[in-house]
Amino acid sequence: GRPAAAVECADPSDGGSTDAPGGAPLPIGMVAELTYRCPLHCPYCSNPVQVSRDELDTAAWIAVLDQARALGVLQVHFSGGEPALRRDLPELASHARSLGMYTNLVTSGVGLSLDGLTDIDHVQLSIQDVSAASADVIAGLRAHHKKIAAAALVRSAGLPLTVNVVLHAENVDRLTEIADFAFELGAGRIELAHTQFYGWGLLNRTALMPTAEQVRRANRAAQAVRDRYADRAEIVYVEPDYHTGRPKPCMNGWGARQFAVSPAGAVLPCLAAQQLPGPPAPSVREHGLAEIWHRSELFNRFRGTEWMPSPCRTCPMREVDFGGCRCQAFQVTGDAAATDPACVLSPSHELLVAATEVRSRPVIVPRRYPGRGGAEDPAVPGTSR
Ligand code: SF4
Ligand code: FES
Repeated sequence: GRPAAAVECADPSDGGSTDAPGGAPLPIGMVAELTYRCPLHCPYCSNPVQVSRDELDTAAWIAVLDQARALGVLQVHFSGGEPALRRDLPELASHARSLGMYTNLVTSGVGLSLDGLTDIDHVQLSIQDVSAASADVIAGLRAHHKKIAAAALVRSAGLPLTVNVVLHAENVDRLTEIADFAFELGAGRIELAHTQFYGWGLLNRTALMPTAEQVRRANRAAQAVRDRYADRAEIVYVEPDYHTGRPKPCMNGWGARQFAVSPAGAVLPCLAAQQLPGPPAPSVREHGLAEIWHRSELFNRFRGTEWMPSPCRTCPMREVDFGGCRCQAFQVTGDAAATDPACVLSPSHELLVAATEVRSRPVIVPRRYPGRGGAEDPAVPGTSR
């Protein structure tokens, strides 16, 4: 499944797109969510809890890639769900490459084959923990050994590898061991990301939430790991915004640098936007990407700084964190236009602080989304393990 924090805050500075005449921003990155289907059941999955099982076909994705490139997109992140479940992944990657785009595969590694998949530039592989015993419990599947094999496959193909792990109460105390393990797998980049609470992750917040003491230890461990690997691997540590008092610059600004396309073709300013109240997200089945990017109500809603409430409106940080995350503001305050409650200056910050102090079980196991016409996995909200 898609690890929360995998791509939401991808650094756009490594792209080269420039703004359109007149100052309207142009996107650099597209997250192509090819499918919500996934063999894993990670309780922190940021996928929406309610999704359509509808998926764009190959021709529709080819058209999306063409339009994305025309709009300025230089990086495509093939994501999901598990994108390797789509048989047309090699064809889509080849098409993106032929357009001159950089192709990143965001995968669980389960079912990954590089046969025919010759046009991927970079692989981002998720792991759950350092040992199979605990990783497989988190994934809800015997997957750890398959991930080790997938890493070897990627490295033997000479592809650069990022290993990504989502940190939470169950594994965060092993941050150092996890980083060492990721390095042994051949990662040149290791992303240690605290859970961001969307989708299934939000449903499981009380089970995943680390204690303040765990976060303090993790911060120290991450710094030590960074120092130790300084010359050998890039260590990216994504802090837990519930604990830091600082909001994340979600998507590097709404409608500024990136967008996502859902499996069914909804075009989204961020991965969690489908939950926001208002008209349904525009779809590539009805509109062109350029029209959606420049003119849709959704993309213009929180673009720039004009929409901002106090205290963001006059804050010196407003062009740095863009007022934080709209979806988190909505989830916690009910108002998508509020200051992200992760910010200490938010009038609702106490709500988030209070959430860091609540812990309970059980874990709700994410449902598996089968293909069109398939039978549904019996695991539904309310199921525990
Ligand atoms: Fe960011 Fe708004 Fe907080 Fe300022 S007040 S730091 S702009 S979220
Ligand atoms: Fe941050 Fe939607 S997930 S704006």
